[in-house]
Amino acid sequence: MKHLKDLNIKNKTLLIRFDYNVPIEDYKILNDFRIKSSFDTINYCLKNNASIVIISHLGRPDGFNENFSLKPIYEYLKKYFDNKIYFSNDCISQNSIEISRKLKPLQIHLLENLRFYKEEIDNDTTFAEKLSKHADIYVCDSFGTSHRSHASNSKILKFFNHKCIGLLVAKEFKYLEVNKSKKNGVIIGGAKISTKIKMINYFLNNSDMIFIGGAMLFTFLKSKGFNVGKSKVENDMLEEAENIYTKSVLMNKKIILPIDVVCAKDSISSKNIYTKNINDISDTDIGLDIGPKTINLFMSKISKLKTIIWNGPLGYFENKNFANGTIKIGNFLEKSEVSTIIGGGDTVSALEKYGSIKNFTHVSTGGGASLKLLSGEKLNLNKSWEMYK
Ligand code: 3PG
Repeated sequence: MKHLKDLNIKNKTLLIRFDYNVPIEDYKILNDFRIKSSFDTINYCLKNNASIVIISHLGRPDGFNENFSLKPIYEYLKKYFDNKIYFSNDCISQNSIEISRKLKPLQIHLLENLRFYKEEIDNDTTFAEKLSKHADIYVCDSFGTSHRSHASNSKILKFFNHKCIGLLVAKEFKYLEVNKSKKNGVIIGGAKISTKIKMINYFLNNSDMIFIGGAMLFTFLKSKGFNVGKSKVENDMLEEAENIYTKSVLMNKKIILPIDVVCAKDSISSKNIYTKNINDISDTDIGLDIGPKTINLFMSKISKLKTIIWNGPLGYFENKNFANGTIKIGNFLEKSEVSTIIGGGDTVSALEKYGSIKNFTHVSTGGGASLKLLSGEKLNLNKSWEMYK
């Protein structure tokens, strides 16, 4: 895959696929992390006197639906770029293609949601060809969709001689792929082992330590014979959890399980919240966060590592009473010397909810895409580029 900086883009028009799939409510953008993450690429192109046509999807609409329009993103971009910005309420109409073709250097043209056409997710050839008419150079900078093979990031490659990945995708690969360095650890949280099983297995071979948090810790504890009360457990994953743990012992790898947990009788109450050692959990307790001894244990072990990769919140962070583990470990990592890579999705939401994500080495814009890459799997993006070299 060529890099944006490998191409001569001076005075050219570029079609750039970003992932502007951001939460929007009543026309208001609730989280602009993914949009801001595209600015390096936009600024690089503008500095090189190029003009830009931006394409993206938003949500999973079934045909045209005003609630999934990219217009709020158009309004947002206008505030950040003085340049002339156009918006077309369609992505393949003749009219929109003409606007793109007449763009002057430094002008930007945002096209309406790609997924208003079902042809986008069908990876349809005719749709991809129509999209390709907007420009002569194609830039893929939509890391969040790189586990998908859709028309705008897969079939479209067939119609461009000049194509490359953007600065964001290059950065994501740099941090998420290079995780086999010595002295690295991974924090894996979230509710379900089943969604992280490939990742845990991958890191058994590619890390020195695995820290387990989130509701999945109770599946591990139960598989080891602990009473976990009414905590969330994936009963059909108990055998798998036991196997992973045994494997880790045989491999002389360290899976670090919590030693204490924050409990309550229900997950919404803010009263009667208490901490228990893992062997004291009673039948009526629900474990909802890692406890203070575990936080200290994790911090002391993490401080001996060089790199930490973090995927999944450590507790039921939606309720502040159970967000302490995630907040404390986040604050610690922000200040520590350990280089920290945040693997996207819920981890980012949790950290942003109670603080900032500015001080980490890298924060991924991907959800499913980062999970896949962190599990050592090849992304569809790579496969498509091999196919349409
Ligand atoms: C994401 O939010 O993970 C990406 O934008 C991909 O969206 P999708 O899961 O609807 O394909």
